[in-house]
Amino acid sequence: MKTLTVIGGRELSGEVRIHGSKNAALPILFSSLLFSEAVEIANLPAITDVGAALALLSSLGVKVTKTGRDSILLDPSSARPAVCDPAVTGSLRGSLYLLGAAAGRLGELSLPHPGGCNFGARPIDLHLDVLRTMGLAISESERGVSVRGRPRGALFRFPAVSVGATVNAILAAVLAEGRTVLTGAAREPHVLDLIAFLRLAGARISTPSPGTVVIDGVPRLHGITYRVCPDMIEAGTYLLFAMAAGGSVTLRSAAPEQLAPILPLFSGMGARIGVGVDALSVFRKGRLRPVRVETAPYPGFPTDLQPQLTALACLADGESVICDPIFPTRFGYVSELRKAGAKIDAANGRALVAGGAKLTGAEMIAPDLRAGAALTLAALAGEGESTLARYDLIERGYADFCKTLGSLGARVRISDGVA
Ligand code: UD1
Repeated sequence: MKTLTVIGGRELSGEVRIHGSKNAALPILFSSLLFSEAVEIANLPAITDVGAALALLSSLGVKVTKTGRDSILLDPSSARPAVCDPAVTGSLRGSLYLLGAAAGRLGELSLPHPGGCNFGARPIDLHLDVLRTMGLAISESERGVSVRGRPRGALFRFPAVSVGATVNAILAAVLAEGRTVLTGAAREPHVLDLIAFLRLAGARISTPSPGTVVIDGVPRLHGITYRVCPDMIEAGTYLLFAMAAGGSVTLRSAAPEQLAPILPLFSGMGARIGVGVDALSVFRKGRLRPVRVETAPYPGFPTDLQPQLTALACLADGESVICDPIFPTRFGYVSELRKAGAKIDAANGRALVAGGAKLTGAEMIAPDLRAGAALTLAALAGEGESTLARYDLIERGYADFCKTLGSLGARVRISDGVA
């Protein structure tokens, strides 16, 4: 198990190259199962979740060939239903996307339980409801979920916005017979990137209004090369790091328009943000102001930046209120932040952050990916040495994390700790 050591209290300055989006890359990779020809995916982030997705695809007979530094060729011509390794599906929430993709092409799959970040209940009823509405037979057991049959077009209204269930429905619908109309669907940039990718490969998908996706099934998808869109959560995380540590940071290869809905919130806290074509720059002017925010599906404030924002709010002058109705139990990291001096009360999906804390070095344990980033933020802003165990969880979703922080002037190192 790896540990990140941070000696805090240094400003960050310099440039960060934003990698391809984890949340776009995973559904795009799994959708290779739907193809009749090989497909090349570029701008893939070097994160362990991508490695896990590729391992699962290999186990289903997809031939994976590296074609460049961050690109691979996926040849699904020999794909067949097979037993997936429960240790891998258990590490990756995105493995759920195999249900929609496999149903679309292979006609059956038994999937051991999907895992992913452990921040409370993560039901899958909406995934199963929409797939059942498309005519698929689903069975659940203590070992996992099985899907069987050929999807048919259907009308489905999501009672709550779900990124994962929207993706699964799109994957099942692409090769289905007939038209599928989804309403109340997610419209996160990573969902739109999946749609753009599938359309380029010949899928007939339109989004006539926000939250509505219409998919007319096609007989086949043809091979293309596609670059995954930039990672908005990675970009948002580095913006928040720069706001916490001070200094001036520029993000390159970013997609500022993805973050546009939440930039006013950062500016309101005291960030000065410059926006270019594919770049963002940030520096903090003066003290940070407190914030009141509630997570919501896009274009709302993303639940994936909630922990990092809560950590930042510890440094603001005054009390902040941060609510996460999407995942009300996603505050498990607060007890770790308190070790660094944070004054936070969290209950019932709401954190009250006292602000004005003088953060100091602490021995912390990352409970999950984004919470790990939040604890790193506290360590960067705090005085003295912090250690962050379970650094491997951060590697699930941030490529070159330690190296990037080092290049910005942070004093950081990774060591192999005791498991
Ligand atoms: C969610 C986030 C996504 C983030 C990911 C990882 C939203 C809308 N989704 O995606 O941005 O990248 O976590 O942190 O911000 N739900 C059900 N039944 C289901 C599926 C979901 O009740 O079958 C509920 C969830 O409990 C949650 C909400 O719907 O309250 C949104 O969940 P969903 O978008 O499906 O989660 P992820 O796909 O994991």
